[in-house]
Amino acid sequence: MSAADSPLTAASGADLLLWVAFPYICLAVFAVGHVWRYRQDQFGWTSHTSQLLENRWLRWGSPLFHLGAFMVIAGHVVGLAVPASWTETAGISEHAYHTTAVWAGSVAGGAMVTGLGMLCARRLLTRRIRLGTDRSDKLLFPLLAATVLLGISATAAHNVFGPGYDYRETISVWFRGIFTLRPRPESIAGAPLLFQLHALSACLLFAVWPFTRLVHVWSVPVGYLARPYLVYRRRAVPPAHSGVRLDSRTARSGRRAA
Ligand code: HEM
Repeated sequence: MSAADSPLTAASGADLLLWVAFPYICLAVFAVGHVWRYRQDQFGWTSHTSQLLENRWLRWGSPLFHLGAFMVIAGHVVGLAVPASWTETAGISEHAYHTTAVWAGSVAGGAMVTGLGMLCARRLLTRRIRLGTDRSDKLLFPLLAATVLLGISATAAHNVFGPGYDYRETISVWFRGIFTLRPRPESIAGAPLLFQLHALSACLLFAVWPFTRLVHVWSVPVGYLARPYLVYRRRAVPPAHSGVRLDSRTARSGRRAA
């Protein structure tokens, strides 16, 4: 492909700004922001749970939101990162893919939006949580809500009640182009507005991510299921004159219960 035929040369200035510069700036802020946050604020690297302040709404809202989010992420990986030709080679027809995507996506999106609604409601209605809501939360919760609502609206308007929109031939091509460093702005430039707004708010969400409680996502306790039931710590054998006495079993193993 010559330089003159390149999608970048053919794209308008606005498309280059929205669909090339903006996503790359957001991804750069995402990467550099995490390094900065890790170096500056390791003690603040938590979900900042408010469970002690309110647990009735949290008990349902949090699992609903997180379960929905895991399903939505899985759906996005398949829908955006995997080319349609691969799923067809794997024997999944276009019709089967879209039917599953719409049903599973609706369940996942429904769970996510219900859970997020409950989390936002308790934050607004419980005075103690409202008082503990900081500036980063005031940015994060509306942005998260906007991204989720735009995603659901786009799916509902075009693929549930509308004639159907094949985003795998357009938005997914743009999405993969960003990560393969071969930007294809023209692929998303003609997409329906709801999908475009959804993609832009998602980019913004990635940019604010490192400065919010979302950093807890990278600290999932993956070893939790395989943890030892009793936690031991090794203890140095005390010098003879210290006066500390160990019972014979602990002294033999050199360990004791923490
Ligand atoms: C640049 C990144 C993203 C792109 C290009 C993108 C694209 C899409 C597309 C094409 C759909 C329609 C799926 C369908 O009709 O089957 C969709 C739906 C949706 N998106 Fe995204 N999305 C992105 C990021 C996100 C993020 C970060 C969230 C959540 C915070 C999110 C939440 C949703 C939800 C809840 C739906 C509706 C349910 C579903 O179909 O899974 N998206 N998105």
